Amino acid sequence: MKLWKCEVCGYVAEGEEAPNRCPKCGVLKDKFVMISEEDAAKIYRSDKTNDLHMQLIRLAMKMDDIAKQGIEDNLDPGCVKVFEAAKAHAWELKQMAKAELAGHIAKGKF
Ligand SMILES: [Fe+2]
Repeated sequence: MKLWKCEVCGYVAEGEEAPNRCPKCGVLKDKFVMISEEDAAKIYRSDKTNDLHMQLIRLAMKMDDIAKQGIEDNLDPGCVKVFEAAKAHAWELKQMAKAELAGHIAKGKF
């Protein structure tokens, strides 16, 4: 299967031919260029990893939400300390996964 990239918005389509219109920005077929086999392999290879990073980001957001509730609940200093640590780790993990995704985008692995 070939991959085609919209030169206007960056949308990547899959198929034997480019789509008649870009589903994202609406430009016509002639604005699509075929992605080389080497670059297509990078996109396919990184697809699962990118999805896993996005799952991590969602989990970090959930962890941040739990931590905020725990801090607000404020049962005792020990509990608050754990929730504050969870909040800090959630932020760090989310930012690390986002940085990795940004790196993938910059390298065409997206
Ligand atoms: Fe487009």
